[in-house]
Amino acid sequence: MKGVVLAGGTGSRLFPLTKITNKHLLPIYDRPMIYYPIQTLVDAGIRDILIVTGGRNSGDFLRLLGNGKHFGLAHINYTYQEGEGGIADALALAEHFADGQKICVVLGDNIIERDIRAAADQFRKQPLGAHILLKQVHDAERFGVAEVAEGRVLGIEEKPPAPKSNFAVTGIYMYDATVFEKIKTLVPSGRGELEITDVNNAYIREGTMTFSFLDGWWTDAGTFESLLRAANLVAHSLGRDPDPRPILEDSRGEAARA
Ligand code: G1P
Repeated sequence: MKGVVLAGGTGSRLFPLTKITNKHLLPIYDRPMIYYPIQTLVDAGIRDILIVTGGRNSGDFLRLLGNGKHFGLAHINYTYQEGEGGIADALALAEHFADGQKICVVLGDNIIERDIRAAADQFRKQPLGAHILLKQVHDAERFGVAEVAEGRVLGIEEKPPAPKSNFAVTGIYMYDATVFEKIKTLVPSGRGELEITDVNNAYIREGTMTFSFLDGWWTDAGTFESLLRAANLVAHSLGRDPDPRPILEDSRGEAARA
């Protein structure tokens, strides 16, 4: 299985931090944001990785990452997203790279405590279809939200004002090679983007979507609040959090102070 990190977008929710750089180059505690999703893929045993960037600072990714020596890689692939077509539009650029193989896609601002090794190994054995990782949250309206019954995902709604569950769809997706045909059938959403949720719903309609729950904490880092939370969670995991109180996952699945 190959890996894709999606690191484009304008980062408008982090303006003015993103006025002169790409969101994924901002620091999360002691590392640039993009280090975390790359590490997630490497920890899942994936060595062949594509970074999709865009905007005016894309050259900085090459300067920062080079051929991936920091991650023990011999090579990293890069491609460039023109415009702001959304997550699924960025993923479409990975078709040539995927070359018929399965892919694991990680959104560049998704940071996890542990690893996705078990889910990746399970998906390597899954003959076709897709796999998503869910996480219980208290603010589901910020995310894609999965309705689950009897071990199956019935559907996903993107940022619903009244979520049907508290299961957020994390920004880690595993797809077979049909994902690119599915993307070609999409039409832009209300926010003018090709939505990854529409890709996932295509697999659900086809009956080939599986899911699992992510272990440990998970956060995105695309808003001021989540950027700060991500830094605190990472510092805490490294034992360098100035606040000595433990961070626990509370009953709602949110990382919280004890
Ligand atoms: C995207 C997806 C959403 C998912 C989230 C995870 O949202 O559209 O379904 O739950 O990433 O981080 P975005 O934050 O790009 O609006």
